[in-house]
Amino acid sequence: MKAENIRNFCIIAHIDHGKSTLADRLLELTGSVRYEEKSKQVLDSMDLEKERGITIKLKAIRMKHKIDGLEYELNLIDTPGHVDFGYEVSRSLAACEGALLLVDASQGVQAQTIVNLEKARHEGLKILPVVNKIDLPSAEPEACAIQLIELGFKEEDIYYTSAKTGEGVDKLLSRIVTKIPAPESHLNEPSRALIFDSIYDDYRGVVAFVRVIDGSFKTNSKIKFIASKAVTKIVELGYLSPKEVLIDEITAGEVGFIATGLKQINEVRVGDTICLDGESPKAIPGYKEPIPVVYLSFYPEDTSKYLDLREAFERLSLNDAAFTFEPESIGSIGKGFRCGFLGLLHADIIKERVEREFDVDVVTTSPSVRYLLTTTSNEEIEIKSASEYPDVTYVKEVKEPWTQMSIYTPTNYMSAIMDLCKSRRAEYISTEQMDTTRMKIIYDIPLIEIIVDFYDKLKSISSGYASIDYKLTDYRKTEVSRMDILVAGEEIMPLSQLVQRHMSVAEGLRVVAKLKELIPRQQFKVSLQAAIGGKIIAREDISPMRKDVTGYLYGGDITRKMKLLEKQKKGKKRMKRFGSVDIPQDVFWKVMEK
Ligand code: GTP
Repeated sequence: MKAENIRNFCIIAHIDHGKSTLADRLLELTGSVRYEEKSKQVLDSMDLEKERGITIKLKAIRMKHKIDGLEYELNLIDTPGHVDFGYEVSRSLAACEGALLLVDASQGVQAQTIVNLEKARHEGLKILPVVNKIDLPSAEPEACAIQLIELGFKEEDIYYTSAKTGEGVDKLLSRIVTKIPAPESHLNEPSRALIFDSIYDDYRGVVAFVRVIDGSFKTNSKIKFIASKAVTKIVELGYLSPKEVLIDEITAGEVGFIATGLKQINEVRVGDTICLDGESPKAIPGYKEPIPVVYLSFYPEDTSKYLDLREAFERLSLNDAAFTFEPESIGSIGKGFRCGFLGLLHADIIKERVEREFDVDVVTTSPSVRYLLTTTSNEEIEIKSASEYPDVTYVKEVKEPWTQMSIYTPTNYMSAIMDLCKSRRAEYISTEQMDTTRMKIIYDIPLIEIIVDFYDKLKSISSGYASIDYKLTDYRKTEVSRMDILVAGEEIMPLSQLVQRHMSVAEGLRVVAKLKELIPRQQFKVSLQAAIGGKIIAREDISPMRKDVTGYLYGGDITRKMKLLEKQKKGKKRMKRFGSVDIPQDVFWKVMEK
């Protein structure tokens, strides 16, 4: 297709404002899906995504649309919505010329609307504001329009739709064609394509989703990846509509997929540039190495499942360049893996997939970041978990990663948010008024302070209205100690953590108090102790269980008794035995929540 008849766009929105529903309507109206298929959301293809209602892996769907007898090719590129996947969002925006900015008419402009809008503007996209869900009784389209005007849009450019009933969606389609610019055509330049997503396929190796910027690519062309330096031959070329359609050639301006035959996802990274082997054009700007920032250990609950867990990780890492794992073994729980993630949601998704798709129940440890440590003999080492922390007498200096974080919030939550940031060692940088009711507050803050429960806390103090965006900036000096936790006298390695030295006693008291809540009573008294360098800094005791759990039930109702025992058994299943004590496996996660 000639570039002038192509439109590449994405939909950006706050979570739940109707992105997937609108995408479905567009597919339906362009005849890309048949009526009977329409009940399922087409864009979010992974089961887990559907259940969580978030879009994790982006893909591109090609639609055909005719206006005045002329056929247009519309490529809708999906974008993930969570901060953990911010880099993937930016690359998918870079593959488009335009974006629909979708706002729920009953909710108005929300934090994520603004975060995404800023990103789209940064990429220079043409943005079409759309007020959605106008069918809702609680819809306030006029109020939404005012908010959009405050963000710099013109009243006459605002569009109104109901993705549910389809109202306004056909006109929106025409508007996509008339308002979003066609891609520039650089057919005669050396061929280049931008990778904005990739998946692993057992038969065809890694499949890259690309936007061709210059020239063209043909099936069997020999290609090179500029950053990863991999070289291969194109196995197949095609696009999704939403089913796969194979083609022989893909040209400048078009979006599609390239099956590479390569077996390692690491060779086909989001943001990398594909060119023809033998040519050396410049890389498309904006490439970043996927770097995990949060580390957790995963251990199989049942030690005999170690190899199954390894296989699950091997499979999952084929599809996820940002996920890393390496074998590790810590005393009491045996063999497992230290894993690296983009953020805690990313970790949680991998955990669920391991349990669901591979049927391996896992125990996870407290999350950590990557510390850089200089020893007294001036050796530089990296620490990704407290268990790697050496004896203090060998430590000269420790540095931890810092980020710059932008918080977007309605003005009235500002003081509560500032209090939260203060309690997390954040350094205030600046405040910017977004419009009459919303602010953007910028802080420098240590990464470890935001990864655990910052996001949840922020949501709860702002009634769900505030949201964040952050990027790693630098490593700064920090004073930490390794705090170990003993339960019934036994050191529980997965609970060891690095704590701020000046906060260590307070943190020790907090952790043992929290464990007292989280660990169920046992038949005997259980002591909980926090220790630094062998010195106990905090202690709590869990008193023993007083009576048989079923003892108080009235006269011999056996079914009731069985039910209760059954329930207990189920509860037990998610426990891990350490020495003489059963610890529920979610304790390792929950204990970090402040
Ligand atoms: P994420 O993928 O989590 O970002 O969500 P999303 O933006 O894709 O939202 P989705 O399309 O899943 O819609 C969220 C909810 O709003 C669903 O229950 C939809 O049925 C509903 N919804 C979407 N559009 C409309 C609309 O125009 N009117 C009404 N009444 N409901 C809508």
